[in-house]
Amino acid sequence: MRATNLLDIRAVSKTYIVDDEPVEVLRNIHFTVAEEEFVTVIGESGCGKSTLLRLIVGLDIGYCGDILLDGTRIAAPGRDRGIVFQDHRLLPWLSVEQNVALGLDASDESPAAVKQAVAANLDLVKLADFGRAYPHQLSGGMAQRAAIARALVAKPRILLLDEPLGALDSQTRAYLQDELLRIHQRGKVTMVMVTHDIEEAVYLSDKIVVMEPRPGRVRGIVPVELPHPRNRAAADFIAVKERVLASLVNGPPLCFDAAPKSRPIVPDGRARRFG
Ligand SMILES: Nc1ncnc2c1ncn2[C@@H]1O[C@H](COP(=O)(O)OP(=O)(O)OP(=O)(O)O)[C@@H](O)[C@H]1O
Ligand SMILES: [Mg+2]
Repeated sequence: MRATNLLDIRAVSKTYIVDDEPVEVLRNIHFTVAEEEFVTVIGESGCGKSTLLRLIVGLDIGYCGDILLDGTRIAAPGRDRGIVFQDHRLLPWLSVEQNVALGLDASDESPAAVKQAVAANLDLVKLADFGRAYPHQLSGGMAQRAAIARALVAKPRILLLDEPLGALDSQTRAYLQDELLRIHQRGKVTMVMVTHDIEEAVYLSDKIVVMEPRPGRVRGIVPVELPHPRNRAAADFIAVKERVLASLVNGPPLCFDAAPKSRPIVPDGRARRFG
């Protein structure tokens, strides 16, 4: 188990005002992300997953509770956090390398250092030969890899991914899952990824945060203690998948956060039925 928590989400609640009425979107969200950990967040549509990522990025600071990155409350977007969305959001009039360089926009890096960082990250996502191409000349998977390079070029402490593979066909998706793991292991980047796909969550992550909707709450946290590379057909893999599914449907009998392992998490303070 990894020792230090990079991200600490403590009692986070978020309410939007819609038509002058408060709409509670997140309630009392608690979980931690350790340095170099890969955490996935799963839950039904509308349970607040993207809202939570927006709060972590610092795009919205109107929330209750604390989101601490290395012990400091997040108050604005910063270079220490990168984000990748379901659509690549590359600018069509810029080449791939110019798009990736946007991740260092307004930095005080020299042009030579920017060029070097862009090249290194295009190499990392295996797009070294496509730096001069334009977004319309890329496949969906290549465009998503360019978006990952843009998010990583500023060397963030944490990479947030909001359903980054959701729009891809299953073969490209499986390929990019392996690519994400490779990038995670090679770059030692901490990752928090939203997905709708339980198998993807079990394949990639060290732990899975299962959310429930209306308002969005943490229903349970399922650790995935399987070695890599993971075999989707293995009995222990399927057992974790079933555990996540049961948690999504019923809520788990007992939830544990990764650190400390023995501390039960009762996310919203309600008494939970065990057993
Ligand atoms: N800016 C906003 N103003 C008001 N309500 C919002 C706003 N953004 C999101 N919401 C509401 O917050 C709730 C959660 O939205 P969010 O996009 O975080 O869900 P999600 O879990 O990411 O869903 P999906 O899986 O479909 O992407 C939804 O009910 C949505 O309508
Ligand atoms: Mg979303």
